[in-house]
Amino acid sequence: MSYQGKFRVWRGDDSGGGLEDFTVEVNEGEVVLDIIHRLQATQAPDLAVRWNCKAGKCGSCSAEVNGRPRLLCMTRMSIFEEAETITVTPMRTFPIIRDLVTDVSFNYTKAREVPSFQPPKDLAPGEYRMQQVDVERSQEFRKCIECFLCQNTCHVVRDHEENKEAFSGPRFLMRVAELEMHPLDTADRVDQAQDDHGLGYCNITKCCSEVCPEHIHITDNALIPMKERVADRKYDPIVWLGNKLFRR
Ligand code: SF4
Ligand code: F3S
Ligand code: FES
Repeated sequence: MSYQGKFRVWRGDDSGGGLEDFTVEVNEGEVVLDIIHRLQATQAPDLAVRWNCKAGKCGSCSAEVNGRPRLLCMTRMSIFEEAETITVTPMRTFPIIRDLVTDVSFNYTKAREVPSFQPPKDLAPGEYRMQQVDVERSQEFRKCIECFLCQNTCHVVRDHEENKEAFSGPRFLMRVAELEMHPLDTADRVDQAQDDHGLGYCNITKCCSEVCPEHIHITDNALIPMKERVADRKYDPIVWLGNKLFRR
């Protein structure tokens, strides 16, 4: 069973562009990326789109469908009405390269700003021991496919270019939280989260968690626990006094 679907796709580059209308065949079981590929094959051979696995695992095909950040390869056509016009646009938070492809290097910059895992100096690799519950906590965060949909969605940077310098975004604050909760990491990540990665900008809107294709509870399991640690340090009088006396 197939039908002729109506699509509106953003075309252009960093100097400007706009939405173009297309009618494309849609077949049963297809996803939006199939339509984009058919569009390339039949009407717009120079249409730029980034993709790799077509299985929701490489994180390359992030874009916005009807304004909602999504993976193109995991968005089934069957969730839309046949008569509906489907709009496909590039991620809004990152600079345009061409058509549906954006420059996501902001995220690589932020990744490099998170100091790596720091195990105890007297422990050799292979001697690491930790509780299963701690392993499982990290595993949720490790499901991240680095699609950057959460980074694209968070209003702190989506609507405020000026915040990009100070705010690492949910994906990398989650990485900081993962390391802070890791029983063998010796670095103090609490002040770093607040001062270097802009945790205070997050006001827990949870939009990041809503768009995560891996269904990671970014806000509840990473950002809120991290905020609690910051608050404990700042407002708990005993912790505060301990910090004054014993921290460098
Ligand atoms: Fe994508 Fe989820 Fe990872 Fe964010 S946390 S980059 S939404 S997989
Ligand atoms: Fe942004 Fe997620 Fe916080 S959307 S404001 S990082 S809860
Ligand atoms: Fe790999 Fe969509 S093509 S996640």
